Amino acid sequence: MSLPETAILVIDEAYIDFASPLDKFSSLQTALKSERMVILRTFSKLFGLAGLRVGFGIFPRFLADYVRRVRLPFSINVLGEKAAQAALKDSMFKQATLELVLRGRQYLAHELEIMDCEVYPSQANFLMFKPPADARVVFEKLLARGVIVRPLNSYGLSHLIRVSVGTETENKTFISELRAILH
Ligand SMILES: Cc1ncc(COP(=O)(O)O)c(C=O)c1O
Repeated sequence: MSLPETAILVIDEAYIDFASPLDKFSSLQTALKSERMVILRTFSKLFGLAGLRVGFGIFPRFLADYVRRVRLPFSINVLGEKAAQAALKDSMFKQATLELVLRGRQYLAHELEIMDCEVYPSQANFLMFKPPADARVVFEKLLARGVIVRPLNSYGLSHLIRVSVGTETENKTFISELRAILH
């Protein structure tokens, strides 16, 4: 990999905890050896702390120093900081969430394929798929039934839908509502 000398490469690894094997997908080891790479991580996904607005970055020392100088004071609050520290140690919660998401992702992919949806490979806690009908119409109909998915037209992918893996009940509700719409 070659990076222009004046460039800094920032990699958003918000969903990296769901990827497997981690070493294959994470750029952390490369970043640690580089003076111009930054890795961003969040507590909003695997750790379930989106409401607390806590994340962190792994920076080369000189860049961390600049960021520290320009960072707003009190950018995270004490509660968020304590919760993040506790979350890092809570391996049972992490494992349970990971298992739920991986099982749910497999279930959703399988059920979507049975309904003739084209499912794209995912290493995150969501799936992208092409329904066998107009994606915009499918989105609207799901919405009317109380199921919110993400149409991807703002990315220029108006034929695709993104769905987040939820709890077992949420996943089943989504599948049964989608089945009702497609049939
Ligand atoms: C691609 C991506 N990066 C980063 C984030 C960061 O999340 P947060 O601002 O909650 O830390 C999100 C959250 O939805 C995301 O989808």
